[in-house]
Amino acid sequence: MANTQGRDIFPPSCSIIFLLLQLLSYRKTDFSVSGPGQPVLAMVGESAKLQCHLSLNISAEDMEVRWYREELSPAVHLSKKGTDMPEEQMWQYKGRTTFRTAGPAKDQAVLTIYNVTVFDNGTFHCEFKDSTGSADATLWLRVAEEGSIYGI
Ligand SMILES: *[C@@H]1O[C@H](CO)[C@@H](O)[C@H](O)[C@H]1NC(C)=O
Ligand SMILES: *[C@@H]1O[C@H](CO)[C@@H](O)[C@H](O)[C@H]1NC(C)=O
Ligand SMILES: *[C@@H]1O[C@H](CO)[C@@H](O)[C@H](O)[C@H]1NC(C)=O
Repeated sequence: MANTQGRDIFPPSCSIIFLLLQLLSYRKTDFSVSGPGQPVLAMVGESAKLQCHLSLNISAEDMEVRWYREELSPAVHLSKKGTDMPEEQMWQYKGRTTFRTAGPAKDQAVLTIYNVTVFDNGTFHCEFKDSTGSADATLWLRVAEEGSIYGI
């Protein structure tokens, strides 16, 4: 006699595959990002260097690196695999930023902001994205005006 006792609609092996697929899609990125950990200081009119780096000597060269303030877009500066995307840039930063990777492993991302203004005083974020996902870090730029207590 055939066993007519109800088997589950999905045999157990299917459930396991489903579970594995779910685990894979929740996989964390292969990297993490850190910033300087303390505010970067600059005087109005000077240039400021904001620097983030990737863990484990992972290269940033083939990644999307986005620098932003309050909102992801428009960005302070966006670079996709080494190509700048000025069309996605805040008007306040047009022509005022350069981006490069640095370090032997190209794991450093350096954003230079020229002609710093009081507008630049505040919080920045750097976000790195590749096919495994994205990670970001927060930085602070403290802008001092001539004659202020931060002035040297
Ligand atoms: C990163 O690269 C440096 C220099 O090549 C090496 O000394 C260091 O061990 C590397 N660190 C990791 C985590 O791979
Ligand atoms: C910075 O300001 C100076 C003087 O206003 C100007 O000549 C120069 O082109 C500016 N540089 C950038 C990168 O905006
Ligand atoms: C920059 O921001 C800090 C913290 O929000 C504030 O205390 C400081 O007064 C600001 N400086 C200028 C020049 O606006």
